[in-house]
Amino acid sequence: MTDAGWQELRFNTTPNHIDSLEDWLFEQGALAVTLEDNADEPLLEPGPGETPLWQNIKLVALFETGLDLSQILAEVPSQWVTASAEEAKFVPDQDWERAWMADFEPLQMGNRLWICPSWCEPPDPNAVNINLDPGLAFGTGTHPTTAMCLAELDASIKHGINLIDYGCGSGILAIAGLKLGAAKAFAVDNDPQAVTATLDNAQRNAIAEEQLDVFLVSQTDAKARLRPVELVVANILAGPLEALAPTLIDLIKPGGRLILAGLLSEQAVGLIAAYKPWVTLTAVQEKEGWTLLAGEKLPE
Ligand SMILES: C[S@@+](CC[C@H](N)C(=O)[O-])C[C@H]1O[C@@H](n2cnc3c(N)ncnc32)[C@H](O)[C@@H]1O
Repeated sequence: MTDAGWQELRFNTTPNHIDSLEDWLFEQGALAVTLEDNADEPLLEPGPGETPLWQNIKLVALFETGLDLSQILAEVPSQWVTASAEEAKFVPDQDWERAWMADFEPLQMGNRLWICPSWCEPPDPNAVNINLDPGLAFGTGTHPTTAMCLAELDASIKHGINLIDYGCGSGILAIAGLKLGAAKAFAVDNDPQAVTATLDNAQRNAIAEEQLDVFLVSQTDAKARLRPVELVVANILAGPLEALAPTLIDLIKPGGRLILAGLLSEQAVGLIAAYKPWVTLTAVQEKEGWTLLAGEKLPE
């Protein structure tokens, strides 16, 4: 870096040309390359190990300020880009870590619960505070579906119950459930990163080992470890939630409660119908186009 900054070049491209364009830019002296969505296209829940890309990508390459970038602009192979690159732009240096941290602030969920990044003092030391930083697995409380689940747990959890967080991601719901009074939580996922993140977050939040059982649904002993509980919460997408209906139902004690999130509001009717034989689900909350459904398991 010179002159306290970098030069930035931005190219519009598509997934099939990313590797060639990246390699070529590094050969031309790029120091770093990042990819951004160029068309406001949401990437919903990737499968384990998947790194999906947007169809329209903005590739941003950083170079030292002393370099003349006009040749790169003139010579970039036209088949790899979908529009002419923008002129080079100066990017001033800043404390990147601090800039990133500033995006995450303590968030209040429901009445009693706060999600606090580790670098912030909890605004209310007497609240139920969860220490959680953004990480590899989904679930910091900033997404409306997680926020609705947390508010629902805060409003409805009964002291001493056992709960299952199915699709635990960061483990935020299991940890919140325990801090709100549950006696024991099971946190399961189909992604090993979620298991690692949940164990890590549980430790940071001083959750006792015997209170939280975390494992992959694919583990051979998963079925034996999961026993029916009073509350099952699953924040996944509508498709998997529908496919998982028989599995989730078997995990709820008669009279126990099911909380489902991760569905778009227009998908609520279909999901209510899918669970109708076992649970009368109703839409309890709606936020930014997402709906949370909840209901009690009917007697067998
Ligand atoms: C939207 S995230 C929710 C994370 C967290 N529970 C929350 O509320 O923020 C969904 C999680 O479900 C997991 N998942 C998706 N399909 C699953 C399945 N069939 N079985 C178990 N976990 C699944 C994903 O790996 C992901 O961690």
